[in-house]
Amino acid sequence: MNSSPPLETPTTVDSIDTIAVIGAGSIGLAWSIVFASAGLRVRLYETDELKRRSALDETAMKLADMANAGLLDEPIATILDRISVCDSLEETLVGAGFVQECVVEDLAVKRALFAELDRLTSTHVVLASSTSTIMASRFAEDLPGRERCLVVHPANPPHFLRVAEIVPASFTSPEAIEISRNLLVRVDIAPILLDREIEGFAFNRLQGALLREAYCLVRDGVISAADIDTLVREGLGRRWSLIGPFTTSELNTRGGLRRHGELMGPVYARLGIERAHENPWTSETIERVARDVEGRLPHDSWEENVRERDRAMMQLSSLLKHFDNPLHDGATTPTDGYVTSTG
Ligand SMILES: NC(=O)c1ccc[n+]([C@@H]2O[C@H](COP(=O)([O-])OP(=O)(O)OC[C@H]3O[C@@H](n4cnc5c(N)ncnc54)[C@H](O)[C@@H]3O)[C@@H](O)[C@H]2O)c1
Repeated sequence: MNSSPPLETPTTVDSIDTIAVIGAGSIGLAWSIVFASAGLRVRLYETDELKRRSALDETAMKLADMANAGLLDEPIATILDRISVCDSLEETLVGAGFVQECVVEDLAVKRALFAELDRLTSTHVVLASSTSTIMASRFAEDLPGRERCLVVHPANPPHFLRVAEIVPASFTSPEAIEISRNLLVRVDIAPILLDREIEGFAFNRLQGALLREAYCLVRDGVISAADIDTLVREGLGRRWSLIGPFTTSELNTRGGLRRHGELMGPVYARLGIERAHENPWTSETIERVARDVEGRLPHDSWEENVRERDRAMMQLSSLLKHFDNPLHDGATTPTDGYVTSTG
């Protein structure tokens, strides 16, 4: 992918037994659970002292919910024992074979932190950022150890949405990419490797495309925000949670994806032209949708609503845990029994 020199002491993923997680917000705690429940030691650091103090209790609460949903293979205490909260960045990095950064989405903060990480760790340690929007070339380009820096962007929350995007910069070494990919496989997260940096990566580009249309439809008074959520939750999302949009197209139309393209391609092309320069992210439309969404949530506090969401998703994960999805890997041939709409 590039001509950077290999990492000084190439690490195999099996030699990594400790992960440093930096930032104890939603993503940092979730990554800690992912690594610790796969048997790895986690050293966690957080600048906010209150959050540092509550990090283990909060993690224990999330683990208790997971245990209730039948998603843990070990006792909570065994998993929790593998996580230590440290009082300084230096202390956190001792013995760490991989760093997963999970601090606020702020370029200046990430830039300063990666400079410190590069200075404080030996050159074989991969430095990965959880960032949703900032490319590694923007926070690591000037670092002496930039070839070990990249983005490993999880779906939220990673302790039960088991997929993450690996986004290397042009200077990231093939070794750093390989270590990241192998580590994700080891902790049961499906690695999605992007060939190059692109704003929004792939996950948020897909999400953004759907949101753009949704905001346009609400703004234009075609449909309510609640009905958009229902359509996606009960329809598109339910299907996509099993087979994804391309396999959906293949199976939705007699004649498969090619026939779907013939039938729907021109329609989608017209819709694309119609929206080409639309920016529905106006404060007025956002406010209208936000009020609608807030009115439908069960609790007043964001944290309680997040916990409710997590419990619901765990229930679903629990139901699916032993579910052998017959549609994986294209193993099934479409038959007359399939829905034949072109939606
Ligand atoms: N929330 C999501 O949906 C989601 C999904 C994927 C990736 N991400 C990315 O993960 C990262 C963290 O997101 P989050 O939702 O957990 O945010 P959050 O606000 O919940 O947590 C960030 C934490 O980082 C701490 N922090 C700030 N500067 C620090 C530093 N220098 N050292 C140590 N700790 C520091 C903050 O005190 C805070 O507790 C962001 O880059 C975000 O874009 C978020």
